[in-house]
Amino acid sequence: AVRRPLVMANWKMNMTPDQVEPYLQQVIPEVNKDTGADVAVAAQDLYLAQMVKETAGSRLAIAAENAHWTDDGAYTGETSPKALALVGVSYVLIGHFERRKLFNETDERVNLKTKAALKNGLKPIVDLDEDLSAYAKEDKKTIVLKQLKIALEGITAEEMADVAIAYEPTWAIGSGEAASAEQAEKSAEFIRQSLVNLYDQQVADQTRILYGGSVTTENAADFLSQEDIDGILVGKAALKPESFLKLIDIAQ
Ligand code: G3H
Repeated sequence: AVRRPLVMANWKMNMTPDQVEPYLQQVIPEVNKDTGADVAVAAQDLYLAQMVKETAGSRLAIAAENAHWTDDGAYTGETSPKALALVGVSYVLIGHFERRKLFNETDERVNLKTKAALKNGLKPIVDLDEDLSAYAKEDKKTIVLKQLKIALEGITAEEMADVAIAYEPTWAIGSGEAASAEQAEKSAEFIRQSLVNLYDQQVADQTRILYGGSVTTENAADFLSQEDIDGILVGKAALKPESFLKLIDIAQ
């Protein structure tokens, strides 16, 4: 593929402090061999500064799972994108399904957060999801397109060089029931075509689109071999370093 794959672990609110260092130490040597994929680990804020230090000089990038849309201010309990960038975090997940569903994150906030991340030099992974409960009212393409359009409002073609899109069918997240590679490819293809319409062919061709939702070491190759799928966003199957290493290996 023209696009370099991105393999991203999303630890979510998992892992204990004593597990962080051994995990990274196991993964770093493999990632440093650099046989063709970008690799990142997203973790809860508490661990990020330590993770950046432990991965310094390596090819393993660190990601936040969320960030606020302003640089600083009276926002108790929130994390500043400016602070994340200054600490050395590289990527940030924006609008993950769990943020949207459990923490009322709206499309408008996803847009503000994406812009704030870019302004600070963080690379946003903008998450789009298909919520089955919404199917009765609108079809899934309408839902995904609406999320995509609002998330990217005001973001320039130049800025898109630092943006990746993650697509997750909500029913596949943490359920053990992944989408079929064909289903996922159809959605990724639709997202890419939408990028042509919103921007141009060049932006669409360069933007990485990740699939997420019950990716495992068994099904990862099927997703990664699809024309429009340029990476995987992995929750459960990335909690064990051995299994994350296998996924990295598959992507390379
Ligand atoms: O961010 C990761 C996704 O929500 C997928 O999670 O691999 O546990 O299904 P999962």
